[in-house]
Amino acid sequence: MQSQLTKILQEVKEQLQKASTIVETEDIRVKILGKKGQLTEILRSMGKLSADERKELGLAANQARADIENLLDEKFAMLKEAAREGKFRLEKIDVTEPGIPHVLGVRHPITITIDEISKVFMSMGYSIAEGPEVETVFNNFDALNSPPNHPSRDYTDTFYMTENTLLRCHTSPVQVRAIKKQRPPIKIISPGRCFRRDDIDATHSPMFHQVEGLLLDEGVTMADLKGTLDSFAKQLFGSSLKTKFRPHYFPFTEPSAEMDVSCFKCGGKGCRVCKGSGWIEILGCGMVHPNVLKIGEVDTEKYTGFAFGMGVERIAMLKYEIDDIRLFYENDMRFINQFK
Ligand code: PHE
Repeated sequence: MQSQLTKILQEVKEQLQKASTIVETEDIRVKILGKKGQLTEILRSMGKLSADERKELGLAANQARADIENLLDEKFAMLKEAAREGKFRLEKIDVTEPGIPHVLGVRHPITITIDEISKVFMSMGYSIAEGPEVETVFNNFDALNSPPNHPSRDYTDTFYMTENTLLRCHTSPVQVRAIKKQRPPIKIISPGRCFRRDDIDATHSPMFHQVEGLLLDEGVTMADLKGTLDSFAKQLFGSSLKTKFRPHYFPFTEPSAEMDVSCFKCGGKGCRVCKGSGWIEILGCGMVHPNVLKIGEVDTEKYTGFAFGMGVERIAMLKYEIDDIRLFYENDMRFINQFK
């Protein structure tokens, strides 16, 4: 048995020499010292020996066990250290190496335009409100005083999700949400995506953006509307610009108007941008209809308000003289990069 122990010790030494990983070393440990390991078997078989033999061999076996454990510990320590070194070598950073340049993205022209519009209104004390793109038919139409037979309700004009929900065809439902949620005074703008079943061409897209605005307070008049929107247009397009308001119809405002700005390209003489008229239509607006205010149980004797809505693509196209709306959605970097 003594010779068996010496042999095992010798074998362990040889095997450990060859082992190059922690897993291999662990395998060796189990093979020798594990429950069914060679040394464990020997120790177990000692029960059959006489007391004297057992004493002598026990000593030797324990010594062999201690030796093997030492060898294994050394090997494990060495392999762990090597792994650590390897990890450090991989993680080494050469601080003298030139950096990797990160190309900064640019804002999309629609985002730039929304930001510019928002900045003007925020400087006048408006805050930003948001509403969902999937709206209820009620918020998109009924609450906005839209008659049951209004053509925009038709499924050929609007994308219906279900009988009662749709992809909003304007940002005006955000007015409804605000009136329902907040008590006046309310002073919000709301940029966002809208959807209409339009065929795609150079000036139409089934998805586009609007910025809605709503001001509701005591004693708000049409003069406040005109003053606010005139100031907005001058800040966006230039202070020499003129505005005019043409009567129009929207179910949710009364009176309603469209605002035209004098052509910022030709100054009003007539050119390609204003199609020779000298004027460009940029938004719809009006005094909020009492029927809309009633939805939020607003005291219509005490409070009045104005609302407006503008198409972001249209304004961006005018401002940057872009003649095809599709350019906004193709995201060709040669186009986008021009708006740095
Ligand atoms: N919602 C109208 C549109 O999409 C614009 C508008 C908003 C008009 C608010 C008046 C008041 O054309």
